Parts: sequence; C-alpha cells; structure tokens
Amino acid sequence: MIFSKTTRFKITILYMSILALTLGVFSILLYHNFRRSYFESVDNFISSRAQGIAYAIDAYWEEEHLETMKNGGVPGDVFSKVNNINFTRIAQRWIKEQSDDPRLMGILVWIFDARGNHIVSSRNISPAVGLPREVVSSLPDIKAGFRTLDLTLMEARTQSFRVYTLPVIENNRLAYIVQVANPLGGVYQALIRLKTILFILLPLTVFITGAVGVFLAGITLRPVDAMIKTIHQITAENLKLRVTIPDTKDEIKHLADTFNDMLERLDKTFTSQQQFLQDISHELKTPLTIIRGEIEVILKKKRPPEEYERVLKSALEEINRVSRIFENLLLLARFDSKKISLELKPLDINILIKDILDDTEQIARQKNIKITFLPASPAVIQADEYSIRRLVLNLLDNAVKYTPAGGDIRISTSWGNNLVVIAVSDTGPGISPEALPQIFDRFYRADASRSSDGFGLGLSIVKSIVQAHNGTIEVKSNPSQGTIFTVSFPV
Ligand SMILES: Nc1ncnc2c1ncn2[C@@H]1O[C@H](COP(=O)(O)OP(=O)(O)O)[C@@H](O)[C@H]1O
Ligand SMILES: [Mg+2]
Repeated sequence: MIFSKTTRFKITILYMSILALTLGVFSILLYHNFRRSYFESVDNFISSRAQGIAYAIDAYWEEEHLETMKNGGVPGDVFSKVNNINFTRIAQRWIKEQSDDPRLMGILVWIFDARGNHIVSSRNISPAVGLPREVVSSLPDIKAGFRTLDLTLMEARTQSFRVYTLPVIENNRLAYIVQVANPLGGVYQALIRLKTILFILLPLTVFITGAVGVFLAGITLRPVDAMIKTIHQITAENLKLRVTIPDTKDEIKHLADTFNDMLERLDKTFTSQQQFLQDISHELKTPLTIIRGEIEVILKKKRPPEEYERVLKSALEEINRVSRIFENLLLLARFDSKKISLELKPLDINILIKDILDDTEQIARQKNIKITFLPASPAVIQADEYSIRRLVLNLLDNAVKYTPAGGDIRISTSWGNNLVVIAVSDTGPGISPEALPQIFDRFYRADASRSSDGFGLGLSIVKSIVQAHNGTIEVKSNPSQGTIFTVSFPV
C-alpha cells in the first residue's frame, strides 16, 4: 500500500497542520506581546528619567535663584528660565556634575532651549545630534512623545534609540526641552533571540509530534494490519480461520469481534449447505440403487409376468418416496426464501386438531396407542390453515411413529399471556440429550438405522412453519420417559 494513501498518513498530516497553525498563531501573538511589553518598559524608563531630570534641574535652578535674590535683589523675571543665559549655564553645570551619576549612565540626555538650540548634552553624545526635525518644526507648541530613531554617535556607528522628548513649561510658556534616549540594541537582540527560538521550535515540535504520531498510529493500527493479513487468507473453503482479537476494549476489538461473528455465521451456513447437499445425494442414491438393482436382475432373463409386476410395484414405491422427499424439500426451500404466501385467517386450533385426529386415531389404534385431546377455549390465532395442519400432523406423526405399542399420546391446547400453546406429549423412548439439539436439522434422524419410515425433514418443516408465524417451539425429553413438544403462537 502506498504510504501517502494510508489513514495513518492522512491523520498525521491533518494533525500536523492543525498543530502548525495553532503554534504559528500562538508564536505570533507571543512575539508581539513581548515586543510591546519590551517597548513599554523602555518607554516607562526613559519618560520617568526625563521627568526626574527636569525636576532635578528645576530644583537646582530654584536654589541658585534664592541665593541670588539674597545677594542683590535682581527683578524676578530675570530669573525666568526662558532664553536665559544663567539658566543655560546652570543646566550645563548640573549635567556636568551629574555625569557620573549611575542613573544617567546607560542613557543619553540632551537639553534644548525654547527655540530648539542645543544647551547641553551628556558626555557620551557628540554635539552634532540635535532635536528631531518634526519637533523643531512644531516649536514652541510641542508635546511630550516617544520616537524610535537611528542615531550616529561618536564611534560613527548608527544605532537605534528609543527617544523621549519632554517639553518643560514655565508660566504657560515653553521653558526648555529635555530629551532622553535609550539604545534599543538589547531589546532588538532579545526579540531576535525570541524569534529564532520560535522559528526553530515550531517546525521541530510539529516534526517530532508528526513522527510520534506516525509511530503511535502504527501501534494502534497494527492489529488492523494483522487482520488484513488473515482476511487475505480466508476463502470459501477456509472459513475456519479467525482474526486475532486485540487485547483492548476499543473499536478495533469490536471490529475484530464483529468480523469473527460474521465468519462464524458464514462458516455455519456454508458447512450446513454442504452437509445438506451430501444428505440429499445420499437420500436419493438409496432408492435409485434399489430400483436399478431390481431392474438389472429382472432383465437378465425372461420372467413370468408376476415378477415384472412385483419389481414395478417396488420401483413405484421408491419413486413415491423420492417425490415425497422433493415435495418436502421444495416446501422448506419456499419457507427459506420466504416465497411461501401465508393466508393468515382466524383459525380455531381446537377444530383443526379434532379434524386431524379423526385420521390419526385410526393409525394409532392399529398400534394400540391411545390419543387424548385436552382442548382449552378459546384457541384462535391468525394463521395459515394448511401450514398449521401440516405442523400438527408432523408432530402427531412422530409421536405415533416413535411410541411403542400400548403407549399414550396427549395433545392439549392452552391459552394465556397472549399466547396459544399446543403441546404434544408421548410415552415413547424419548430423545437422548446429545441428539436433542439436532432434531430440527434437515435430514437428521436420531437413529437412522431405525426401520421406521421418514427422511428427517418433518421437524425442520415444523420449525419453519413456527418461525413463519412468529411462534416458538420447545422440546423436553427424557430417554425412556417420553417427549413433549410445546409450540406457542402469539395471539
Ligand atoms: N416424539 C418423538 N419421540 C422420539 N423421538 C422423536 C420424536 N419426534 C422426533 N424424534 C426424533 O427426531 C428425529 C427427527 O424427526 P423428524 O424431523 O420428524 O424426522 P423423521 O420423523 O422423518 O425421522 C427423528 O428421527 C427422531 O429421532
Ligand atoms: Mg417425522
């Protein structure tokens, strides 16, 4: 079998695709979340630094302001920070003094005046770096905001920075601008690392899961492979083979069980068909052999007419026997193929039995057998009269045939539980427990050597008739104590 067409392959591919899709979506969400929170933390960091710096410079300026006021009474507005040379100097001094402060270490700081001119920047920046162009163009009404910029610093190396621009307002006027930048190299590196891990992990996970899936599917489907192998070996002549039942409780076990049940039934049908054919051949062979033998003998020489008459009579007897067998077989075949059309009419069984007994009692009397009938009223069912007559006849015929002279036969009807029951019992030899399960089989006779006449088809026909009327038949027998057949029909 081509692997790409197997269920195992299809399930695995489907499973891998679903997994890849889920993991893909998951990875994208994860990456973007990480990226956002990285930027957020950098933004929080630089904005709080910028606020801190503005606050510290203002405090520093305030101190100087008070000092000067004490020393010489200069008018207040001279101390406005806006475009004030003194403020510039103080800001420059503050930055120089704080340059070693660890809080300013990893970041870059610029200060610009209200016109956007560069006042001072932290040591690690070449002065060439100014305000971003769009900030300059919107002066003096600028707003605090974040940007990502590529800056070329002293080492002439371009690097990405996250930049925060903070306008500091004094009396509703822009006093100066603090700008803080944080290199993004670390953030980008972390993101690239995350991306790489996700890129490697995703296909790897999908691949490993797929491989494990194929393996597991292989284990799960192994019993199916074994079943297929066995099934290949099964032919009409080889119906005894059975598939191995896996030691589980799953669908595959169920399949195997069902399959074996089917084989069992097929085997039974097939065997019984073969048996049936053998039996028919056997039944037909005997009368034909007898006829042929007698004719061959009588033709050897001229004989008196009585001789011919005797042989012809005997041949006629055998031919009658053969045609009775065929009649019975035909009837059975019709029941089997459900071709028989039952004329269902209300039928009073008691009247029917009385009618049959008129004939049967004569035969029984010859054998000195007493037949007792115990009718119960009402005993009316919907049934086909011809079939039921045949059924009762067959049961009574057996009872009379197998009960020795001086015996007793009882036939009774009873009514109850929505059932009409006919029971036929005798005081005959009974049926051995080994024979009991087979008496309804075609051509089965418990004692085939018994010289009594019959083909072993009577009870098969009885059973077919009972089934055609949705009834049931039971037999109870103890050797040497007689037999009782009980037939029940739904009302
Ligand atoms: N009333 C009975 N008492 C003892 N044996 C019986 C009785 N009815 C049936 N049997 C056994 O069941 C076998 C099958 O019966 P049946 O199908 O009617 O065939 P047949 O009557 O032609 O032998 C008989 O051969 C006989 O061995
Ligand atoms: Mg019979």
